[in-house]
Amino acid sequence: MAKPSSASRARRPGAPEPADCYQLLLGVLPPNPHGAGPPPANRAARTEPGPAAAHAAANGAGEPVVAREAAPPRLAHALIGRPATGPLAGALLYEALADPRQAALLLERLRLPGTLGPLRFRRAPGAAIEADLTPRPLAAEQSNSSVVYGDAYILKVFRRIAPGINPDLEVALALTRTGCRRVPPPTAWFEAAGAGAPATLGLLQPYLADCADGWQYALDQLARGADFTAAAHALGQATAEVHLALARSLPTAEIGPPQIEHLTAAMSRRLDAAAGAVPALRPFRRALRGAYADLAALGDSGRAWPAQRIHGDLHLGQALRSTRDGRWSLIDFEGEPASPLAERRRLQPVVRDIAGMLRSFDYAAAVGAGGAHGGPQSAAGSREPREWARRSRAAYCAGYAAACGHDPRAEPELLRAYETDKAVYEVLYEARHRPDWLPVPLSAIRRLAGPAARDTA
Ligand SMILES: Nc1ncnc2c1ncn2[C@@H]1O[C@H](COP(=O)(O)OP(=O)(O)OP(=O)(O)O)[C@@H](O)[C@H]1O
Ligand SMILES: [Mg+2]
Repeated sequence: MAKPSSASRARRPGAPEPADCYQLLLGVLPPNPHGAGPPPANRAARTEPGPAAAHAAANGAGEPVVAREAAPPRLAHALIGRPATGPLAGALLYEALADPRQAALLLERLRLPGTLGPLRFRRAPGAAIEADLTPRPLAAEQSNSSVVYGDAYILKVFRRIAPGINPDLEVALALTRTGCRRVPPPTAWFEAAGAGAPATLGLLQPYLADCADGWQYALDQLARGADFTAAAHALGQATAEVHLALARSLPTAEIGPPQIEHLTAAMSRRLDAAAGAVPALRPFRRALRGAYADLAALGDSGRAWPAQRIHGDLHLGQALRSTRDGRWSLIDFEGEPASPLAERRRLQPVVRDIAGMLRSFDYAAAVGAGGAHGGPQSAAGSREPREWARRSRAAYCAGYAAACGHDPRAEPELLRAYETDKAVYEVLYEARHRPDWLPVPLSAIRRLAGPAARDTA
């Protein structure tokens, strides 16, 4: 096994060698105590000597970086800085995956599973990975870092690392085991062994080159004035199939009165906090509380619901539609990256995913129509996008019901409470980060607070 070399060792051109990969991952930095965003250049100064990847894993987060003595001009855009102290002192740190050579080395390592210091490279049984595929970093806005290899594979390197298996890998493995073909099967992955459970660092999956993501597809359909209901119906079916497969392959439970009480109390607290920060929400607070009270009353009456593993952050951007046959696949089962791992793996009612997708239709309608009318602000309240979203919702729920026999609209209290909770979250988010977009969730809040919402969630 190659010994970890000094982070600032001069690099030799030529054939890939394991030490290069080790060096790449030696540079995984510990969490940024100041939250998201690029790490300060002296972050490495806070690492203890020893394998930084394992250290980062044990500490709950990290950034894939690489260290070298000098960086060529072509990598100037990926530079992070030069730490003055710590194990990477004096080295130039830059985004590892922006360097085609590092990205190629990483794929090479995934082709040949094994261990390297604290790192374990694993491959799905029977998976053969092509060699010499050209890497290109994914241009999309995302919270992790992805590289596409020759249109054959996509590697996602997680930017928030926590001890334990990442749900993106865990769920995709479980779905693949159960024969569900709605998710690209894991081809290979790598992890860091620390004091606790190994932390997943990256996941390689087939790249679905002939797909458009659902968000872009919906906007295209809106722009062309084309029908989206058939696609929404098929997407509902795909969602139901994935939920059924998750219930077959991973644990399930039931949530009864105590959990419902806890859930509705938490929803109410989030509403109060959002209303405290966003005055425009206040006139609706009472009516929205009514949505939670209706659900709580059902709980009090002894009602229980099944809970299971879910997607956790489902929206149109997490669905890929084949341009060949219109078939939908779902991706990115890591849940909300900002939540703790235990929370992201919690068993929940499937309606949480459904509510997420329904909210996404509202956003697509507002943005799609805004292209013609001057932005989401002016589009949110107008009739046409509302009608597009309404038809999409109905088709999606009908598709869901067709695949599993359960129509989410048959439990309006549950759906309304979850959709309200999501819209409240969006109100707070938009008020803080994109005030121009605030009318989009506020338009949903108006609907959800109205009397009609009681019967037709
Ligand atoms: N298997 C795949 N085939 C084709 N494209 C893919 C595949 N997986 C991901 N993508 C593309 O890459 C983008 C980012 O992927 P993904 O959502 O998994 O990354 P992420 O960092 O978790 O993003 P987010 O910050 O939205 O959570 C997707 O929106 C999609 O366009
Ligand atoms: Mg994600």
